[in-house]
Amino acid sequence: MIAMVTGCCGLLGRKLLQYRPSWVYAVGVDVQEPDAPLLASACEYQHLDVTHADAIREALEKRSVDWVVNTAAFTNVDACETRREDCWQINVLAVKALAEVARTTGTRVLQVSSDYVFDGTAGPYAEDDEPAPLGFYGRSKLASEVVLRETGAEYVIVRTNVLYGHAPGVRPNFVHWVLQQLERGVPFRVVSDQVGNPTLADDLAQAIWTLVASEARGTYHLGGSDLLDRRTFALAVAEVFGFPQDLIGEISTAELRQAAPRPLRSGLLWEKARQRFGIRMRGVREGLQLMRAQMLEESMQSGRQEARREAK
Ligand SMILES: NC(=O)c1ccc[n+]([C@@H]2O[C@H](COP(=O)([O-])OP(=O)(O)OC[C@H]3O[C@@H](n4cnc5c(N)ncnc54)[C@H](OP(=O)(O)O)[C@@H]3O)[C@@H](O)[C@H]2O)c1
Repeated sequence: MIAMVTGCCGLLGRKLLQYRPSWVYAVGVDVQEPDAPLLASACEYQHLDVTHADAIREALEKRSVDWVVNTAAFTNVDACETRREDCWQINVLAVKALAEVARTTGTRVLQVSSDYVFDGTAGPYAEDDEPAPLGFYGRSKLASEVVLRETGAEYVIVRTNVLYGHAPGVRPNFVHWVLQQLERGVPFRVVSDQVGNPTLADDLAQAIWTLVASEARGTYHLGGSDLLDRRTFALAVAEVFGFPQDLIGEISTAELRQAAPRPLRSGLLWEKARQRFGIRMRGVREGLQLMRAQMLEESMQSGRQEARREAK
């Protein structure tokens, strides 16, 4: 089975390659240059911009790709408000072009979407709840789902939220940011009225491969098993990583004045995926413990490499 993982240098893309089942030949594609760990986990890497439809067609046809797992996206929610054209180009038009090519090549598409398609007045949300995005990022992710359904390609849509995890070289996510603040030892404030179910990227990647293996079709929600606000999540980070919790104060979304509006009472119900495919998603403490172990292992490995260099 040949799978193309777009956005393979991002957090989810890296985890998809890391947890690639042995029966999958994975072609990782991204606009970024891959590093050594990423190259070791992909069967093949190609520099490819998903907004270039001709390059996508060539890549799918050349290798007879069975599945595209599309994680490539413009993911900076606040920047989407000001860079609307770029956001639409990557999050919507590229998905439309990709799905059109996929229909003609018989490739199935798994599109990663977001809880930001909802307005956050009544979460956690089920798959058939009515979307009503608040900001431009959410609108673009909802539009990506619509264009995918309309092309007639075979598809799975996976909506997720508050993705966290660690991989070498990955761009810092919320947990990394909280750790940086805790390491500085200076009090800081975390928003306390944005609720979701943080999703460990390791679990999401494994769940996605389960959906692919099960020939799933349609829309699935995948989130972690704890529903909590961001400040409570930050307190759990402090607890698991052994920092004092009293550095973490609170701030409201209204005070924080982020550029893009946020769904407040959000989160995703993932019963459908659990019941149909036996998928299991960790809660935050278990997820953070795994992340901590991975970070420790990485720093021990770089320590060993450093020692070897000095010994030469
Ligand atoms: N992070 C979250 O909390 C969250 C929540 C819900 C849903 N999601 C969705 O989950 C998916 C994965 O998220 P993530 O956090 O893993 O994203 P990420 O870390 O930002 O990774 C996305 C990757 O795609 C690359 N990319 C961007 N434009 C591209 C293009 N035109 N062609 C090829 N590659 C391109 C990015 O490169 P650059 O860095 O150079 O742009 C990056 O390496 C996204 O679809 C996102 O919308 C994320």
